[in-house]
Amino acid sequence: MHFLVWTFWSLVGLFGTTAQASSMMQIDLVFPRNETYTTDERMPVVFSIRNAQLGPLLQPSIEYKVRNRSDLGQDGPSNNHLFLNTNWTDHEPYFAYTFINMTAEGTFQMFWASSWAFCNQTGDRTKLVRDHAAELLSFTIKKDAPATNLLDLTPSVHSCNTSPGVSISISNTTAVQPFPNRGSCALMDPFNPVGVSLDPCGVTIDKSTAQRIQDDQRERLCSVLNPNRPADCTEKKNAAQLGGTAGIGCLAVFVVMAGLLLA
Ligand SMILES: *[C@@H]1O[C@H](CO)[C@@H](O)[C@H](O)[C@H]1NC(C)=O
Ligand SMILES: *[C@@H]1O[C@H](CO)[C@@H](O)[C@H](O)[C@H]1NC(C)=O
Ligand SMILES: *[C@@H]1O[C@H](CO)[C@@H](O)[C@H](O)[C@H]1NC(C)=O
Ligand SMILES: *[C@@H]1O[C@H](CO)[C@@H](O)[C@H](O)[C@H]1NC(C)=O
Ligand SMILES: *[C@@H]1O[C@H](CO)[C@@H](O)[C@H](O)[C@H]1NC(C)=O
Ligand SMILES: *[C@@H]1O[C@H](CO)[C@@H](O)[C@H](O)[C@H]1NC(C)=O
Repeated sequence: MHFLVWTFWSLVGLFGTTAQASSMMQIDLVFPRNETYTTDERMPVVFSIRNAQLGPLLQPSIEYKVRNRSDLGQDGPSNNHLFLNTNWTDHEPYFAYTFINMTAEGTFQMFWASSWAFCNQTGDRTKLVRDHAAELLSFTIKKDAPATNLLDLTPSVHSCNTSPGVSISISNTTAVQPFPNRGSCALMDPFNPVGVSLDPCGVTIDKSTAQRIQDDQRERLCSVLNPNRPADCTEKKNAAQLGGTAGIGCLAVFVVMAGLLLA
């Protein structure tokens, strides 16, 4: 792992610019890892997207589904991050997070998949397509395990118990012909378009990010849409409801768009 990281940074150094880095997006599952956690009604699931400035171009999405590992037919929590109203330049890396209710002990399997858009040029034809990468991770829930602390996810030199993550490299962009209003489209690096993440445990969550995740969890809890809304929520949190409704509208639009593009 160290060697890989070293190679990467020395390459960046050798070429004098961050050209290598700026043409590669990396998507990783930051939490949970392949470890044992205590029961938690609001256990965070955190993904990171490094070099998020490529977001508008690659239009990534991330979905996951948790299943009972002893019986994969038993579906648990799932989510689909579509990033429709995301400001990709706000944070680097970009963190995508949700909270899942894990109150039963057991070993679980998380299936997660990321997808991204690019243009495939063959001859004089350009096609807008989506590709995806799927990964699996197991984790265990046990009542007497230590509580989750996102700040403890320091990069470990000895072990990196996580799924490999994905790196997506582009070499250039082109105009999206049939959809001029969509701007430009990525052309994949012809030599190494898709690979594993260079250092899947390399992302840490700093104090302010952990605080942001916690605040956001609080805001979602206090949404008037939540039937189990705690009593100590302040009234101004009602604004959260408007955001939620708009999101659902956009979701429907996205599904229609995706249908058109993939047709
Ligand atoms: C995104 O966030 C950056 C930094 O916070 C801000 O300067 C920029 O105006 C935002 N862009 C949009 C489209 O909201
Ligand atoms: C989590 O699940 C348990 C068991 O199904 C349920 O009793 C509890 O209310 C749930 N908690 C939340 C916050 O949804
Ligand atoms: C997982 O499936 C096994 C086998 O069906 C079952 O015994 C166990 O209770 C399930 N665990 C959870 C957390 O649902
Ligand atoms: C581009 O399309 C061609 C023809 O359909 C296919 O053979 C090729 O694998 C595609 N390239 C990529 C990077 O998806
Ligand atoms: C995670 O850990 C368990 C037990 O330590 C192991 O069986 C499993 O193969 C590991 N790997 C992944 C990717 O979940
Ligand atoms: C990127 O595409 C443009 C327009 O097709 C082309 O002129 C340019 O040479 C390409 N750049 C690279 C590095 O391939």
